[in-house]
Amino acid sequence: MAERSPGVAVVNEEKSEACVQSSMCQDIERVLISAEEIQDRVRDLGRQIDERYAGEDLLLIAVLKGSIVFIADLMRAISIPHEVDFLATSSYGAFSTSSGVVRILKDLNEPIGGRHALLVEDIIDSGHTLAYLTRLFSARNPASLEIVTLLDKPSRREVDIDLFWTGFSIPNEFVIGYGLDFNQKYRNLPYIGVLKPEVYQADSE
Ligand code: IMP
Ligand code: MG
Repeated sequence: MAERSPGVAVVNEEKSEACVQSSMCQDIERVLISAEEIQDRVRDLGRQIDERYAGEDLLLIAVLKGSIVFIADLMRAISIPHEVDFLATSSYGAFSTSSGVVRILKDLNEPIGGRHALLVEDIIDSGHTLAYLTRLFSARNPASLEIVTLLDKPSRREVDIDLFWTGFSIPNEFVIGYGLDFNQKYRNLPYIGVLKPEVYQADSE
């Protein structure tokens, strides 16, 4: 019999909990990162951000919509005073690759010149979105510009991204939950899951 890692029990628990509330869990192949693991890691990141930006004028910038759940938890894990702002970029759809040309649908409300800007992202995949945003925001002369991403898929990187903190490095699989979507759905799952291939295959038929 195959050895069962402790993660397997969590998978089943998390899935059955979600199934009580929703039929969405039937579309999930497996839970990659449990809600509890996410919460622990977000707390760590909050503490690191507290140390890094103590005494500074910190502005968290969330990239809509995938980062909404992450920033909501992260800002409460940060104990130093800070502000938040939001930015929306054009979406490429679930599987198309970023071209490097990113359209800004909603710009920031706040100027960032002279301030410590921290971009909050759900996932770095090809890196094109963040490479573009880093160029855009650097031109506004912030005191510093860094990135915190919940997830990183290093095997998919096409452009280098500097100065970032990562919650979790993940394999090259399409993930949903905790803010991340497939066709705008599944954002409300409390964990990061891998979608069953038949879900997106059915969708492309
Ligand atoms: P980029 O390829 O690094 O520019 O990634 C841009 C965006 O694609 C991310 O911010 C996500 O919104 C989306 N994305 C990339 N990989 C995934 C995934 O596995 N699940 C859901 N969204 C993803
Ligand atoms: Mg995103």
